[in-house]
Amino acid sequence: MELLLRSPLDMHIHFRQDAMLDVVAPLSAAHFAGGVIMPNLIPPVDSLDRLLWYTNEVRRAVGTHRFDPYMTLFFRDYTREELVAAKPHIIGIKLYPAGATTNSDGGVKEVLSMKHVFAMMEELDIPLLVHGETHGFVLDREREFCEVYRTLATAFPRLRITMEHITTEAAVSLLDEFENLRATVTPHHLLITLDDVAGGMLNPHLFCKPIAKRPEDRDALLAAALRPHPRLMMGSDSAPHPIDKKESAGCAAGIFTAPIILPLLAELFEKHDALVNLQAFVSDHARLLYNVEPPTTTVRLVKESMIIPEQYESVVPMWAGRTISWRVAEVS
Ligand code: DOR
Ligand code: ZN
Repeated sequence: MELLLRSPLDMHIHFRQDAMLDVVAPLSAAHFAGGVIMPNLIPPVDSLDRLLWYTNEVRRAVGTHRFDPYMTLFFRDYTREELVAAKPHIIGIKLYPAGATTNSDGGVKEVLSMKHVFAMMEELDIPLLVHGETHGFVLDREREFCEVYRTLATAFPRLRITMEHITTEAAVSLLDEFENLRATVTPHHLLITLDDVAGGMLNPHLFCKPIAKRPEDRDALLAAALRPHPRLMMGSDSAPHPIDKKESAGCAAGIFTAPIILPLLAELFEKHDALVNLQAFVSDHARLLYNVEPPTTTVRLVKESMIIPEQYESVVPMWAGRTISWRVAEVS
């Protein structure tokens, strides 16, 4: 049994910088025709100079793979001139509430105090990508943030807002309330719940932000992905950290999935008899929602078992050592 995917896209990836960039960028670029590259470096990518530098770094690391990096700026109080200058080089601007996750200390303290920036982004048609969590109780953070999404979607009806890596039934419902809301969902949030992270022995390699939630949340996400919902895109949030930062007290948030995303999804969609919808979920919706034309590639997946490697250099992938039933056979 085989499956062909055209120009798969990963609409939320952490490529990092320096040696880590050189390890992970080729792994994504080997399977994907493009992806949205997150700006939460140290220091963040929050100026045109830094954006152009990082774009070059990413292109260098991607090498000869056919892969379009869709770059993002780290949200701050930008002037109109800065936005106009950045627009040709970015797919959107990523907003992190201050302290919500890895390398987000320079994020926004009060999201709704930034309405003047959102108004300019709406006018200039620059999408807003959002890490949607409050500072409340960990399991309630995304649900609480839905009020902020409502306020933004109502106040700025032409602003294209992506709810990044949604994890709750509440966020899935919001998609149907507002035309200008769209979302990414990760493969891991379609597969795991909080039980997999902390229900038995603590598994640091499944610890991420937002944390995996309840079975009913996972089921709502899965139903929307399998359908597939027209405003839902695959964004892996593949977030590598070296093994010593994961297997330690004070474990860093992030799950590394880049090299196994397509096999994981093929297995999952096949299990639910929805393989025909995988193309839309991993490429077509993103192309329409972001108006992008990635390089034409074809990924051939075959139903043959693969053991997930224990490590890629210093990084442990999700489900290391497990056998999954699909693998990538060829990319052309
Ligand atoms: O788990 C996460 N890791 N969530 C994020 O939002 C950021 C990411 C990272 O950069 O490591
Ligand atoms: Zn992320």
